[in-house]
Amino acid sequence: MSKLKITETSLRDGHQSLIATRLTTDEILPIVSEMDKIGYHSMEVWGGATFDSCLRFLNEDPWERLRKIKANVKNTKLQMLSRGQNILGYKNYPDDIVEKFLKNAIYEGIDIVRVFDALNDFRNFKKSIEVVKREGAHCQCAISYTISPIHTQDYYLKLIKDFENAGADSICIKDMSGILLPFEAYKLVKAIKEVTNLPIEIHNHCTSGIAEMTLLKAIEAGVDIVDTAISPLSSGTSQPCTESLALTLKGTERDPELDIQTLSTVADYFKPIVNKYVDNGTLSSKVLMTEPKTLQYQIPGGMLSNLISQMKSLNAEDKFETVLAEVPKVRADLGYPPLVTPMSQMVGAQAVFNVISGGRYKIIPTEIKEYARGKYGSPAVPISTEIKEKIIGNEEVITVRPADLLEDAYDNFKAEIGNLAKTEQDVLSYALFPKVAKEFLEKR
Ligand code: CO
Repeated sequence: MSKLKITETSLRDGHQSLIATRLTTDEILPIVSEMDKIGYHSMEVWGGATFDSCLRFLNEDPWERLRKIKANVKNTKLQMLSRGQNILGYKNYPDDIVEKFLKNAIYEGIDIVRVFDALNDFRNFKKSIEVVKREGAHCQCAISYTISPIHTQDYYLKLIKDFENAGADSICIKDMSGILLPFEAYKLVKAIKEVTNLPIEIHNHCTSGIAEMTLLKAIEAGVDIVDTAISPLSSGTSQPCTESLALTLKGTERDPELDIQTLSTVADYFKPIVNKYVDNGTLSSKVLMTEPKTLQYQIPGGMLSNLISQMKSLNAEDKFETVLAEVPKVRADLGYPPLVTPMSQMVGAQAVFNVISGGRYKIIPTEIKEYARGKYGSPAVPISTEIKEKIIGNEEVITVRPADLLEDAYDNFKAEIGNLAKTEQDVLSYALFPKVAKEFLEKR
């Protein structure tokens, strides 16, 4: 087996998971040329919530951040996370927006695009794979890992074959909830290695306390790349710590051969910055505490704490256990969607309504109706006729790829935003986050 490769996530998922994606470009830039010397396979620096956060909270142009990072990182590949047809937003966008967005991201320096879809609906990957490949970047397709009667090993292997046939350059097992158990990971990686030669990467979160054990078993099974974060931005709801893993593997055949001295310099740089976010309350001890209930209920940590606060605000804390029991039932009703954004929020809201409104599906959020209409894609198993009728009556369910129903929209967005947009990238920021981007462009 060859040396393990490491994707450093601190500049995307690390701060997204621990400090609500609040690292500024000024905090990131002074250290990236040091990070470039460490010997990482890649650095995840863009996408996910970073784009929204730049515009919404930091009064920063996310495109400018990417350009500045690229100017200082010469050796290490830059990676971004994209939600497939949702790109960096929370709904499906038309193909022309997906195309222009990814094209610009790659032009500004993204080398690897990790694409995922909340429903693992292969059709929602197609446009992204096509564009990323055409623009000469590396397209990594991620399976959103979840546990259910139908999410078997065979289910994942079939999905991986679909990715491979569509031209994926590598595969990621994306365990956003931190529920992939160590021995399961071993079996899954071994099984994937039997059916494909594509590199396999594991992305997980420490939420439930098993992430490092899972990585170690996956490494034994031959996983090619793993995601870790530099110590001050690791653990809790973030990724396992880069230095600890590098030291664990030192001198073994899977030694990632990272520059330990420079890792320590980078950690020292981030410590006071992270402490600032502890002091101002952005980093709460809650996200650092291990939450094994995540494994017990198979509910992501973030969703669990959302449910607790929702039940509090409804003065219905006594019904919390009932809601917890309702979540898996709603999930089964809806065809076992993985509990990742936006499905986790949607399933959580429906479970709360089912418990507090005195009857199941008496109150139904709009998003759940859209989901039942097929507008998010197809769930792994179809919703039963009985449940479908409860949610949308006799309305028709679409069977085409949801984005097939969306007209190209770039020209409309461009006309709408007018002179405020100076570049195609400004128009794309507006297309993804109309209100927030408009305010940003007005202030600029
Ligand atoms: Co993550």
